[in-house]
Amino acid sequence: MSKLFECIIGKKSSYTPIWFMRQAGRYLPEFQEIRKKNPDFIKLCLTPSLVKEITLQPIKRFNLDAAIIFSDILMVPYGLGQKVEFKKGLGPVLGKLDIDLIANNQPDKFTEKLQSVYESIGEVKKQSIEKEVIGFVGAPWTLLVYMINQKSPKKDFDIRTILKDENLTQRLLKIIEGRICLHIDHQINAGADVIQIFDSWAGLLPKEMLEKYCYIPNLRIVNHIKSKNVPSISFPKGIGKNYLDFCKIVKPSCISIDYELDPNWVLENLKDTPVQGGLHPKILLKDKKNLKEAVERYMNIFSDYPYIFNLGHGVLPETNPDTIKFIVNLIRERNERRSSRN
Ligand code: CP3
Repeated sequence: MSKLFECIIGKKSSYTPIWFMRQAGRYLPEFQEIRKKNPDFIKLCLTPSLVKEITLQPIKRFNLDAAIIFSDILMVPYGLGQKVEFKKGLGPVLGKLDIDLIANNQPDKFTEKLQSVYESIGEVKKQSIEKEVIGFVGAPWTLLVYMINQKSPKKDFDIRTILKDENLTQRLLKIIEGRICLHIDHQINAGADVIQIFDSWAGLLPKEMLEKYCYIPNLRIVNHIKSKNVPSISFPKGIGKNYLDFCKIVKPSCISIDYELDPNWVLENLKDTPVQGGLHPKILLKDKKNLKEAVERYMNIFSDYPYIFNLGHGVLPETNPDTIKFIVNLIRERNERRSSRN
């Protein structure tokens, strides 16, 4: 069993595993080179030889403990038949939502459209047998937001517009949940060892709506993953102290914390759940002294706890790859010091 796997299932160890959300991607020149030649992002995600190469780029450079498959949470809406494009400077742009078309989408058709994703996972697993392979999905709420809003909700987002048609919302959530579970099953069958669930826009929900749109849908997905005997990592970004209710209700194998949470509060309050992440991605843009202190702060707080080192959100595109190396070295040196003491 790998150290990362042991950590997710709650074993304490002197070895802190490390990987980064968005470790494969825009900050790496070797990714940019491939990306330049492949302007269609969805097509790139459906090309196993390139997906394998991109997934393993950060592993080769930094020897991280896990490989997250190069794909996107929006592959599920794509598999359902909604148009998905990634435009330079704009991020994802989705086509108009046709609920009847989506309701008619057959599981076989969905699977066929995403077959290459599963093939890629198999390829990665074959090549990096000793590394944990992380598959992932977007949570129902986050996918609903993209599918109805048709773009990132970063600007001009009005939750009342998204939820104005209760019938549509409920119909869509049910379909999305089914396809998320199917996408998870195929990723597990192809070789994914762990599934991370990104609820990147959970923070848009007011407290009184969290149960209906965040906790319950995440609970259903986590229970589905549990039924496959696979561990899960949940990332309900932006919900502040409601992380506590989230953990009590959803009971994920491991909780990924965002940069807004105080790690001391996390240690006191979420102590029954293994923890991942937390460090602000912007700290990676600062000088080494500040960065080292910030990394050590997390490592000290969680030193006697099942903790996976990661960030509180994805690696920013302007991050220098050497900074990732610097952090990996800090963690690995600390691991060595701790294991020689034992
Ligand atoms: O983590 C990894 O290295 C694996 C690959 C991965 C991507 N997207 C590749 C990607 C993962 C895990 C994701 C998840 C994802 N996608 C999330 C959840 C995590 C989060 O950041 O909150 C979300 C919300 C998306 C939707 C999405 N995809 C957006 C908003 C964008 C555009 C802005 C951005 O972050 O780059 C994408 C495109 C995308 N997905 C890129 C990559 C490498 C950039 C594509 C490009 O080169 O233009």
